[in-house]
Amino acid sequence: MSIKEGLHKKAGIIEAQLNTYFDTHDNSYQKELHDSMLYSLLNGGKRIRPVLLIEIGELFGAKKEDLIDFACAIEMIHTYSLIHDDLPAMDDDDLRRGKKTNHIVYGEAMAILAGDGLLNFAYELMTEVSLKKNSYNYLKAMKEISKAAGHQGMVGGQVADCLSEGKVGTKETLEYIQLNKTSALLTCALTAGGCIAGVSEMTLNDLRKLGTAVGLAFQIKDDILDIESNESVLGKPIGSDEKNRKLTYPSVFGLEASKAKVRELTDEANRILINFDGDTTFLESLVNYLCNREY
Ligand code: IPE
Ligand code: IPE
Ligand code: MG
Ligand code: MG
Ligand code: MG
Repeated sequence: MSIKEGLHKKAGIIEAQLNTYFDTHDNSYQKELHDSMLYSLLNGGKRIRPVLLIEIGELFGAKKEDLIDFACAIEMIHTYSLIHDDLPAMDDDDLRRGKKTNHIVYGEAMAILAGDGLLNFAYELMTEVSLKKNSYNYLKAMKEISKAAGHQGMVGGQVADCLSEGKVGTKETLEYIQLNKTSALLTCALTAGGCIAGVSEMTLNDLRKLGTAVGLAFQIKDDILDIESNESVLGKPIGSDEKNRKLTYPSVFGLEASKAKVRELTDEANRILINFDGDTTFLESLVNYLCNREY
């Protein structure tokens, strides 16, 4: 099985689980909201973050059934971030995961609320599991996720990303943006998986280094695809960064240096991965796939 097929299969497991949280025969006042949440949540995402959480958790001895709710919660947080990222007040994009963006279909108010709904549902789900298991490890995983998703992580990165539009940014600002808007959530997928499996602080640190390298490579590759890919393959508009005069790795260092940086970070990630005990074959292929991906 190719890595693309392998990832697709694992993404299918996440998608099936995501479906179980919602009532499809919903006639309540929330129907429009639920439709809007599900519109963005289902069908189309690569499901990288939840797959990483499960792979790392399993590598360190946790069972899939003990990881899957947290994996889905991260995907909900990620999806909320995409809905808000596409809003007119932010990147103002009209295509996501090959479909019209949430606000184009449901209107801005519902898109904002669908994002709010997904974010809060993620915490409800994680709290429910933590209470049921009465477990310190789950609470620790939640702390990783809540910090990474918030003002000291993804939200902070998105703020810097917006404030830097159209300005001549420094390398430090660029690094702050990429580390926070993207790397933080990707990293917490790894550390949360590790926490649930009960890994040591030393391993958590290695997971942070791994996540940082993969996350930075992931965002630089995203910036490259925004220039070099095409809309039908990528499932989102090309040239969004140029339109918004974003501070990106290619805008500061150029395309060739960006590609070299993705390769360098991917090598670094592989060096960390091979030092872990256990079978890291899938994770190594996944990291290499992310660096060479077409969408
Ligand atoms: C897109 O993330 C936003 C970034 C952080 C670059 P993904 O490329 O993981 O988007 P989906 O979930 O596969 O649509
Ligand atoms: C978005 O970065 C990061 C988050 C949503 C947190 P981008 O704005 O580059 O992501 P895309 O290209 O729209 O997916
Ligand atoms: Mg953006
Ligand atoms: Mg965007
Ligand atoms: Mg982008």
